[in-house]
Amino acid sequence: MKKGERWLFAAIGVLVVVGVARGVMNYGKDRGDPGIPFYSTAPKNVQRQASDLYRDLGCRDCHSLWGTRNIMQFVPAPSLDGIGSLRSEEWLYRYFSAENPQAILPSRLKKKYRMPSYAYLPEAKRRLLARYFASLKVKDWYLDEVRKAEYEKLTGKPWPGHGRPADKPSTGDRR
Ligand code: HEC
Repeated sequence: MKKGERWLFAAIGVLVVVGVARGVMNYGKDRGDPGIPFYSTAPKNVQRQASDLYRDLGCRDCHSLWGTRNIMQFVPAPSLDGIGSLRSEEWLYRYFSAENPQAILPSRLKKKYRMPSYAYLPEAKRRLLARYFASLKVKDWYLDEVRKAEYEKLTGKPWPGHGRPADKPSTGDRR
C-alpha cells in the first residue's frame, strides 16, 4: 500500500466510525412518543359552549370524545375524535339538521341505537355543533387509524386494509 492510499483508508475509516456513532446517538430520537394526534381548531369559547351542549344532549351516551367513554356506553357509535378531518362543517350541519340522519349516513344498528335527529334544536345550536365537530382534527400520521375505526364502526366489517387503495372507501363523496 502506498502512503497516500493508507491516508485515504484511514480517512474513510474515521468517517465510517463518526457516521455510525452519530447514527447510534440519534437512534430513537425520531421515534419518541409523537403525542396525542387529536386537536381542535375552534376558539376556546366555541369549544366550551359546544362541549356543554354535547354533555347536556347526551351525545356521550353513545359516542366517545377525547378518548373518554361514558362507562354506561354500550352503543357501537363511531368515536368523534378527529371527525372534522373526515367531515366538513356543511356536511355536519346537514346531518344534525336532518329529520332522518340515516338518509345521509345509513345505519346497521337497531333503531334505538341509531343517531337521533337533532332537527328540533334551534339553528344556532346546530351551527355551533357543526362548527365544533368540524374543528376536531386529527394529525396526518394518525388519519388512517381514524378512517379505519370509523369504517369498522359504521359497517361492522374489518377495514379492507392498507396497500389496496382500490378497496378503500372513498370519503370524498360523503363530505
Ligand atoms: C342513541 C345513540 C346516539 C346519540 C345519543 C348520539 N349519536 Fe351520533 N351517532 C350514533 C350512531 C350509531 C352513529 C352512526 C350512524 C348510525 O348508525 O345512525 C352516529 C353518527 C354520528 C356522526 C357521524 C359520524 C361519522 O362517522 O361520520 C356524528 C358527527 C355524530 N353522530 C354526532 C353526534 C352528536 C353531536 C350527538 C349529540 C348532539 C350525537 N351524535 C348523539 C349514535 C348516537
